[in-house]
Amino acid sequence: MKSTPARYGTVAVTVHWLSAVLILILMGTGFRISSLTDTEAKAALLQLHVPLGLAILALTLFRVGWWVLVDRKSTPLLATSRSQRIPATIVHVLFYVVTLGMAASGIGMMLLSGAGEVIFGGSTASLPDFRNYLPRVPHGIGARLIVAFLVLHVFATLSCRSALRFLVGRVWHQRFSLLQFEHLMARM
Ligand code: HEM
Repeated sequence: MKSTPARYGTVAVTVHWLSAVLILILMGTGFRISSLTDTEAKAALLQLHVPLGLAILALTLFRVGWWVLVDRKSTPLLATSRSQRIPATIVHVLFYVVTLGMAASGIGMMLLSGAGEVIFGGSTASLPDFRNYLPRVPHGIGARLIVAFLVLHVFATLSCRSALRFLVGRVWHQRFSLLQFEHLMARM
């Protein structure tokens, strides 16, 4: 369940991938909603976007609590130097802050606009224009920051993996050369 110094535990891995899937769906539905002009289609997508946004809020709070109170982060295999750890930690913390900010601004939009009644309450009033409400601004900025973090995260993970593969390859190659050398020596 918990992480060891060498690998992340099942809870951490499950929460990570669940959050990744939720964030991708939220980003996809969010950008789609803001590009639509048909308010019925917007409301239908918001019926998915809003509960998933609240789910990611709960999951992120659980995740922060899990790391602070229960589990200890394993040292990433290659990110052991300060120059790798500090930026990785900053990006992770910023990611949590922006995710929580997205949830807060989303809730702010819903409360200020009263759209909850239209989306979930069966009200026949028309869907409000969210651009008239201040939390729409940080929600839009946060969405773009999340895109940037996702690109950085995927890039950092891939370059870390290929560095690991390169190292394993070199160790394997050296062991193999050593075996060949010992084999040759034995025959002499
Ligand atoms: C981490 C959680 C969330 C993410 C990643 C997310 C993502 C997005 C994105 C990408 C957009 C489009 C932004 C743009 O085009 O500038 C958007 C719009 C929106 N989101 Fe979220 N969202 C989240 C949480 C929430 C929550 C919790 C709510 C409501 C309780 C919510 C309600 C809305 C609304 C009302 C819009 C505006 C649609 C429009 O402009 O017509 N979001 N969201």
